[in-house]
Amino acid sequence: MAGKSFKYVIIGGGVSAGYAAREFCKQGVKPGELAIISKEAVAPYERPALSKAYLFPEGTARLPGFHVCVGSGGERLLPEWYKEKGIELILSTEIVKADLAAKTLVSAAGEIFKYHILIIATGSTVIKLTDFGVQGADAKNILYLREIDDADKLVEAIKEKKNGKAVIVGGGYIGLELSAALRINNIDVTMVYPEPWCMPRLFTAGIAAFYEGYYANKGVKIVKGTVAVGFNADSNGEVKEVKLKDGRVLEADIVVVGVGGRPLTTLFKGQVEEEKGGIKTDAFFKTSISDVYAVGDVATFPLKLYNDIRRVEHVDHARKSAEQAVKAIKSNEEGKTIDVYDYLPFFYSRSFDLSWQFYGDNVGDAVLFGDNDPASPKPKFGSYWIKDGKVVGVFLEGGTPDENKAIAKVARVQPPVENLDVLTKEGLSFASRK
Ligand code: FDA
Ligand code: NAD
Repeated sequence: MAGKSFKYVIIGGGVSAGYAAREFCKQGVKPGELAIISKEAVAPYERPALSKAYLFPEGTARLPGFHVCVGSGGERLLPEWYKEKGIELILSTEIVKADLAAKTLVSAAGEIFKYHILIIATGSTVIKLTDFGVQGADAKNILYLREIDDADKLVEAIKEKKNGKAVIVGGGYIGLELSAALRINNIDVTMVYPEPWCMPRLFTAGIAAFYEGYYANKGVKIVKGTVAVGFNADSNGEVKEVKLKDGRVLEADIVVVGVGGRPLTTLFKGQVEEEKGGIKTDAFFKTSISDVYAVGDVATFPLKLYNDIRRVEHVDHARKSAEQAVKAIKSNEEGKTIDVYDYLPFFYSRSFDLSWQFYGDNVGDAVLFGDNDPASPKPKFGSYWIKDGKVVGVFLEGGTPDENKAIAKVARVQPPVENLDVLTKEGLSFASRK
């Protein structure tokens, strides 16, 4: 059967897709050569806005305000931009079948797309409580957050349940950012998570103690060491209560669940090599299948700095991996080579008046420094991670742009450390004078 044919197809229309499109234009792409096929109805945007300003009662962010590439200080790519460049934005189109041998994609509506080179940029999906068969987890107002449609449902629920009660299930990124966003909307918020402290995949107990204290001062209640095992709904099917494993029952008008993401690789299962839950790539984001690249959340790539292979679910890598893949594709066509991807992991988050950045690897001994009193008017503290006598990771809350630059440099350069007590005393000045 005939279908539309493109030289380059990007499947997925999120952060990576947008940054890849910009890079294609920088490198030179002819009208009609590139298509982006996205399940979402809107052009690529900066996904981090959805858990932050999109939910604020004031200073609210709305599209077209946060289309890529504004998140990294670049030009805002409006739908017109794609038109001008001759890039086809095929929106509201979910690909349901991918045949990498035949270089063919099929959409839910049965459209066929052919490509010469494919970039997989499908990102992640949320893990749902219904996936584990949690009783009552399909009740109304039990909400998740990944795409703009989910964010719109949340905005509706916040309006409808004005001054109501919310339970946030999960103590990771979504848990912490959404608890703050709902609290700012004057909702009564309780967080529930199984671990002894929040964000355990990055925070040490010392770091978490600050955020838990700060959130408590803002009126967020925290229930640790247990999970939601069931939900009760009213006669309209709307959630009313959250039943916890420890026997407690919490009232709720809204439940937001953030219990992790899952990379969207299912379309390619059995067709391409996978590792660590993602699609295995080389340092140019090339997969095991020729002419097929994978970027962003779905890619498991060589992290040169740590001589390891990793998958990273954060926006900075989504942007940079997309740019690297496009540079590799174009240089390959010209018979040139480019440098391997040499990534320094960078994660960040913002909530209430807080803002932290982390660079590097959180392995080895952690050393806490600075003012981490949650009641301080301007708290500024951080942590170094030291492995084999070298600093390998740095976290900083409340840093200025220069201080954040300094910690990034330290995480990249990995200076030696002789004495952890001295480092604790020196604190941020250790990074600033490097
Ligand atoms: P992304 O998820 O951006 O895009 C994937 C796209 O593919 C989507 O448009 C999806 O609809 C589409 N798609 C999937 N399957 C498809 C199919 N079969 N057919 C067609 N289209 C398909 N990171 C960070 O560093 N700092 C932060 O503050 C935040 N904040 C944040 C908030 C929220 C609410 C989320 C959900 C995530 C973050 N992140 C973050 C993580 C960051 O947004 C994430 O790592 C990047 O968006 C990943 O970019 P990708 O392009 O890989 O996927
Ligand atoms: P996460 O992995 O950060 O956190 C998941 C949390 O779920 C765990 O910390 C744990 O507390 C909790 N949990 C697990 N099982 C549970 C259960 N049965 N009941 C209650 N809690 C349970 O995942 P997330 O917060 O859902 O985020 C989803 C994705 O979005 C991730 O890829 C994340 O990187 C991304 N994201 C990133 C940012 C950021 O970088 N600032 C912000 C928002 C989202």
